[in-house]
Amino acid sequence: MKRGSRTFFITGTDTGAGKTILTALLLDHLRAQGENAIAIKPLCTGPRDDVRLLQSLQPGALTDDEMNPFHYAKPVTPLVASRGRLKREHIVSAIRQREGECERLLVEGAGGLRVPLSSEAAGVTWDEVVNTLKCGVILAAPNRLGVLNHVNLTLDRLKTIGAKKVFVVLSDCNPPSRRDASAASNERVLAGFWPETPFLKLPYLGSNLGTPEKIRAARKKTKKTLARLVSLL
Ligand SMILES: Nc1ncnc2c1ncn2[C@@H]1O[C@H](COP(=O)(O)OP(=O)(O)OP(=O)(O)O)[C@@H](O)[C@H]1O
Ligand SMILES: [Mg+2]
Repeated sequence: MKRGSRTFFITGTDTGAGKTILTALLLDHLRAQGENAIAIKPLCTGPRDDVRLLQSLQPGALTDDEMNPFHYAKPVTPLVASRGRLKREHIVSAIRQREGECERLLVEGAGGLRVPLSSEAAGVTWDEVVNTLKCGVILAAPNRLGVLNHVNLTLDRLKTIGAKKVFVVLSDCNPPSRRDASAASNERVLAGFWPETPFLKLPYLGSNLGTPEKIRAARKKTKKTLARLVSLL
């Protein structure tokens, strides 16, 4: 298998797009199948909730600092939170260090694909990290009004950098009572724009999903979708 082909970067159309829940479901699904899958969140700004949830699903695999080597308390973009000290090479080597220690590496980004990370050259964003690693990309997108524009922009950028394995997961982050009218047609419209990109859908999985018990229950409910996603990776 080619280097990086077992590494998947989970990005989102925005912050709060469903990256952690998707990463947690996929991680738990792979591990339940007996695969030695590991999730990392190389950069985290603000509270370390994502780190805690993902770590609870892979107990003993990595220390919090191995799983999340760069943590900044200030909830702002990594470029600002790190006061410009973070370099692209730091991020790439933190990810590469974990490749080879597992069968599948899931890397949750921070924010979306073009979030400023470092001020080197013209400014480094996640797409450069993806391009260096040559890894697959899973785009988490909330199935609501506005998602078409955000998915199109993100997929345009991934196409520009020549990303090969790209998947989109549309999640119903709102309960049915608060779902907007676009939710019924977003997937169809996007599939028309991107006929070669697989689109998968996750249903609304309840509130307060941030515990391992809730993720396990949600993983069982979404087994078919997760199995399909894994079969495509
Ligand atoms: N399928 C779903 N069903 C119900 N709620 C969901 C679903 N997916 C995500 N959510 C909720 O949406 C919110 C944002 O999800 P999540 O934390 O995964 O986003 P994120 O992209 O990781 O955010 P961040 O940028 O903070 O890392 C959370 O409250 C989460 O529980
Ligand atoms: Mg997250």
